[in-house]
Amino acid sequence: SHPSLTDSFGRRIDYLRLSVTDRCDLRCGYCLPKGFKGFEEPAHCLTFDEIERVVAAFTALGVRRVRLTGGEPLMRRGLTELAARLSALPGLEDLSLSSNCTQMETLAEPLARAGVQRLNVSLDSLRPEVFREITGGDLDRVLRGIAAAREVGLSPIRVNTVVMRGVNDAEIEDILDYCAAHGFTLRLIETMPMGATGQAAASAFGDLEPIKQRLERRFELIPDILPGGGPARYFRVAGTETRIGFITPLSQHFCATCNRVRLTVEGTLYLCLGQDNSYPLRDLLRADIDHADLVDHLRRAIALKPERHEFRERPGQVVRFMSMTGG
Ligand code: GTP
Ligand code: 5AD
Ligand code: SF4
Repeated sequence: SHPSLTDSFGRRIDYLRLSVTDRCDLRCGYCLPKGFKGFEEPAHCLTFDEIERVVAAFTALGVRRVRLTGGEPLMRRGLTELAARLSALPGLEDLSLSSNCTQMETLAEPLARAGVQRLNVSLDSLRPEVFREITGGDLDRVLRGIAAAREVGLSPIRVNTVVMRGVNDAEIEDILDYCAAHGFTLRLIETMPMGATGQAAASAFGDLEPIKQRLERRFELIPDILPGGGPARYFRVAGTETRIGFITPLSQHFCATCNRVRLTVEGTLYLCLGQDNSYPLRDLLRADIDHADLVDHLRRAIALKPERHEFRERPGQVVRFMSMTGG
């Protein structure tokens, strides 16, 4: 029989989000506050050997997909080497990356060679001044990074846009045009109240239903299923090959089909993005427990996975910032 991990609500867990650093070169206000100083000490961060042991234990339990996240994963020195080690693990079928693409122009090629298959990129605006206002970074550099990723064949490429009323909501159609022209899938995201800065943003930006209705006045949106599950509800723009996804944790949550857990750079497993339940692994790894013990611990951890987030009911509950788990 195939190994598998099932939580106490009968959900099959086959997807690990792996945060390889909590640092980022950008400062999107909904994710990481400007001036943030609380980054993890290097000595507390898992080494590549430690990460590889955890991922091997997960794949032994049937996890088939791993996403590299941050912070900004490309800030982790040697990421290419880590990607190569992970993609060589038996049982791993899908190695993906969520990145801001500021460093993708130089890293796309080595990452693709190391076995990274697909990319989700954060892109909240195509207007240089607005982009700088949101992220503190340079739009042109990011667009060059995305072009490089496309060039080396990372596919599919999905563009993540956090929709912010009064900031970028008027340019959704333009971003959709850009995605259509390049063969990317656009995903619109509702801001989640992660940490103080995420809470402020979430209450300011509201839900995606009005945006969807506005798009439906211009395009016919046909429900579509993309392989791999995940949080987005997808539609195809009628008459085109363009897909658009809505990630609506607040207005219509998708916890009933959740398939994932998250490992932070300091080796703590978070069972749900919107809850505090966690299971520390670093001390176990450093006490040199063996593979069978580690597998046992993972099973125990998965049993702690809560049914769902409570972003609506308890918006101030999660104090950690999004940058700690990379979404
Ligand atoms: P795919 O495998 O391509 O579907 O990726 P993904 O959408 O799971 O990953 P990505 O890193 O692109 O995340 C996009 C958005 O979805 C981010 O805002 C994440 O925080 C959010 N997201 C991903 N998984 C979950 C989840 O389990 N719960 C919630 N509430 N949000 C999630
Ligand atoms: N709410 C929703 N999405 C967020 N992201 C970062 N912070 C938040 C938040 N508070 C998104 C980024 C990135 C993805 C991995 O998570 O835009 O694309
Ligand atoms: Fe950095 Fe991504 Fe957070 Fe923006 S959303 S601050 S790029 S980790």
